[in-house]
Amino acid sequence: MRVGVLTGGGDCPGLNAVIRAVVRKGIGVYGFDFVGFRDGWRGPLENSTTPLGIDQVRGILPRGGTVLKSSRTNPFSIDGGVERIKENLAANGVDALVAIGGEDTLGVATRLADLGVDVVGVPKTIDNDLSGTDFTFGFDTAVNIAMEAIDRLHTTAESHHRVLVVEVMGRHAGWIALHAGMAGGANVVLIPEQPFDIGAVCEYVEKRFESHYAPIIVVSEGAVPVEGGDMTLASGEKDAFGHVRLGGIGDRLAGEIEQRTGKEARAVVLGHVQRGGTPTAFDRWLATRFGLHAITAVAEGAFGTMVALRGADIVRVPLVEGTGELKLVRPEEYAEAQVFFG
Ligand code: F6P
Repeated sequence: MRVGVLTGGGDCPGLNAVIRAVVRKGIGVYGFDFVGFRDGWRGPLENSTTPLGIDQVRGILPRGGTVLKSSRTNPFSIDGGVERIKENLAANGVDALVAIGGEDTLGVATRLADLGVDVVGVPKTIDNDLSGTDFTFGFDTAVNIAMEAIDRLHTTAESHHRVLVVEVMGRHAGWIALHAGMAGGANVVLIPEQPFDIGAVCEYVEKRFESHYAPIIVVSEGAVPVEGGDMTLASGEKDAFGHVRLGGIGDRLAGEIEQRTGKEARAVVLGHVQRGGTPTAFDRWLATRFGLHAITAVAEGAFGTMVALRGADIVRVPLVEGTGELKLVRPEEYAEAQVFFG
């Protein structure tokens, strides 16, 4: 069997670990051969391929990013896109695809599976917002990077009696903010699922200063104030999946806090630092197991499924289960973090 592999959407630490596991087990156990498609769905769309074998996956386990590169190409927004993909898969003698991606990439995989393409999905995103799986790889690395930043910001904030606002990624879900904020001892955590009251945030800030500590506020890029309005758009431009670019809430929040409390406030935007570099041990472990189970799903003809973590087990779920609905922070989980506010 000849298997195509692609990685789509925002990159995340652990993608290379999946690719390595898929290829190593695919060749070593099943005798498959592989072709890499470059740049997500753009690869099969434009017939952009790269050799993929044992030599190409040697040494990539600890490397961040993806050796196959990525893009946010959506074949369903391009005229004749699906037909071109089918033709290019046939031209390359590809019998099955392993698609590694988040909500958008796996959303395309779901629709292609319905149209008869043999595809198995592997869920990835630093945002951890895919349903069907307890965790996605990349998330643990992002949380650790954000936690380390918060640890460092505590000491400098205290030295200068400043408020420090840390903006982390999380378009629709506040998982990174919640986990990093709790691990780093943040004084306020603001997430997209729970619109925030700027007045209450300022009260927490003042209370924190009363105890002679400096407040650290962790905010997801997609968090919104209760009054509504737009504190978060970095640009109105949309990608092929209709997402606008977020960013800027940290600065706007710091400005508002400074104005209302008279305390100096600065913002730090962690941005793509959270997505770059080497994966943590947990992410390498999870990504490797996802890869091993994904190629077994291909060997067993379990197409239209994705691998998922449930407890300590890797299971298969229908692709649509992972992409149909986002996994959001529940109010009771947020309430746990609120105990430490102020
Ligand atoms: O979905 C992953 C993610 O990192 C989001 O948290 C973020 O909003 C988005 O990708 C930014 O992606 P890019 O800057 O690559 O378009």
